[in-house]
Amino acid sequence: MAMTNSVTKIGVLGAGGRMGRAIISAIASDPRLVLAGAIERAGHELVGRPVGPPFPSTLTYCSNHGPLAIASDVLIDFTSPIALAATLDAACDGKSAIVIGTTGLEPHHHALIDAAAKTIPVLQAANTSLGVTLLARLVADAARALGPDWDIEIAELHHRHKVDAPSGTALALGTAAAAGRGVDLVSVSDRGRDGITGARQPGHIGFASLRGGSAAGDHTVLFAGEGERIELRHLAENRDIFARGALRAAMWLAGKPAGRYQMDDVLGLPLR
Ligand SMILES: NC(=O)c1ccc[n+]([C@@H]2O[C@H](COP(=O)([O-])OP(=O)(O)OC[C@H]3O[C@@H](n4cnc5c(N)ncnc54)[C@H](OP(=O)(O)O)[C@@H]3O)[C@@H](O)[C@H]2O)c1
Repeated sequence: MAMTNSVTKIGVLGAGGRMGRAIISAIASDPRLVLAGAIERAGHELVGRPVGPPFPSTLTYCSNHGPLAIASDVLIDFTSPIALAATLDAACDGKSAIVIGTTGLEPHHHALIDAAAKTIPVLQAANTSLGVTLLARLVADAARALGPDWDIEIAELHHRHKVDAPSGTALALGTAAAAGRGVDLVSVSDRGRDGITGARQPGHIGFASLRGGSAAGDHTVLFAGEGERIELRHLAENRDIFARGALRAAMWLAGKPAGRYQMDDVLGLPLR
C-alpha cells in the first residue's frame, strides 16, 4: 500500500507472542505509528478479542492476513518459518512492505523472500537490534583485519523457550565473520562439538549455544590469537530493543521500491 502521510500503518503478525506484544506496546507509545491490525494463528484463543487499551475496542485480533496487508503500509512478522509462505503471498497481494524478524529460516525460505522482493520491499533480519547490526559490521571488519590465524568462536545465551539453535543472530554474526575473511560460512562452521572431536580446524568458525532463564539474547564473538584475545559482545536486556529496531526498520522501509533490504541499510552503513 502507498504511504499517504508521515504516519506508518503497521500490521503485526504473531501479535499475541512475546515479540508481537512488545511491538504493539511500542506502537502504542509512538505517535508516528498506527496499529492497522493484529494477526494470530487461526484457532488461537486471542482471535476475536480486543487488542486492548489504548486501542479502540473495535480493534480485535484476527487471523486473516489478506485485509491486513491491504490496510497496512508495513507488516511485521515475528512468528514461525512455517507461516512465511502464506504471509509473503498476502503481503505481495496487498502490496504491503514487510519486515521479517522470524528466525530459523532455511535456504528455501530465503528463496521465497527473494521472490517476494521482486514485488514488494522486504527487510529480513535475524536480529533487529541496532546494536547487533553495528556489531555484525565490527565483526566483519575485525575478521578481515586479523585474518585466519585468529580463531573465531561465537557463543550465545537465550531464554529457555527458544526452539532453534544456534540463534539466527549467532549465524548472522558468523556470516559477517566469514564474509570478512572472504569465505562461505557453510564450509567453515563447527556447530555443536561433542566427544572426541579432534583439534580445531584452522579457519573454522565455532558456535556454542546456551539456554536458560529469561535471557533476551547475549552474543559474544571471540577472536583468539596466539597470546591474545579480543571479545566483541552485545547484551540484550529485554525484547524492547528488537521491537524498537523492527519499528525503525518499518518506518524506513515504508514507501521504498521493491527489493530486499537489511538492517545495515536502515543504519545507513556503507556498502563493503
Ligand atoms: N529478529 C529479531 O530481532 C528477533 C528477536 C526476538 C525473536 N525473534 C524470532 O521471532 C520469532 C517469534 O519469537 P517470540 O519470542 O515472539 O515467539 P512466541 O512468543 O512463540 O510468539 C510467536 C507468535 O507467533 C504465533 N504463530 C506461530 N505460528 C503462526 C502462524 N502460522 N501464523 C500466525 N501466527 C503464528 C504464535 O502463536 P502460538 O502461540 O499459537 O503458537 C505466537 O503468538 C522467533 O522465530 C524468534 O526467534 C527474532
